[in-house]
Amino acid sequence: MRGADVNAADAAADTKAYAGKRPGTQPLVARTFSTQPPVIPHAVENFDEITLEENQCLSCHGVDVYKKKNAPVIGESHFVGRDGKKLATSSAARHNCVQCHVPQVDAPPLVENAFQGDVAPAKAAAKK
Ligand code: HEC
Ligand code: HEC
Repeated sequence: MRGADVNAADAAADTKAYAGKRPGTQPLVARTFSTQPPVIPHAVENFDEITLEENQCLSCHGVDVYKKKNAPVIGESHFVGRDGKKLATSSAARHNCVQCHVPQVDAPPLVENAFQGDVAPAKAAAKK
């Protein structure tokens, strides 16, 4: 997989650009299993970093704004506290969105992979 002798120093990996354009223009990416955090289908490059005070993701995906922004609302599991009880606002444990949701690059797989997910693409894509 390294494509070089074991003793050779690793070459720097290619820099790959994230796929995806402006939010609002991208089809959702099918999920491969029901509890998978969906991957981010749109560009993320120009967003501000998520900090304690600021979270630009919530300015489109937050409960108060998602309808106006025409964006999918954050998942139901994001409103469950550590004790398993339902919260009125999204859990602080879900504040750092990009710890679970990631954009994708168009990279060819290094090894052949026959994995098949358990979510039908049509169903996952239609869920909004
Ligand atoms: C300007 C509004 C906007 C911002 C900011 C934004 N999104 Fe989105 N997001 C959307 C829209 C609209 C979609 C639906 C796909 C599309 O139309 O591009 C989407 C789709 C998604 C999805 C796919 C959901 C699914 O069910 O497949 C995820 C995950 C997501 N965004 C996460 C994020 C994260 C994390 C951030 C912050 C880094 C973020 N978004 C910032 C508008 C936004
Ligand atoms: C600890 C991991 C984790 C974090 C942190 C997290 N998510 Fe999620 N997210 C998930 C999982 C797992 C799902 C799918 C299950 C569900 O819907 O709850 C999901 C679902 C979603 C969906 C799709 C909901 C649906 O089913 O239609 C959106 C949109 C989303 N998250 C946005 C966000 C945003 C925005 C943040 C940051 C404020 C965030 N998430 C933080 C794990 C996470």
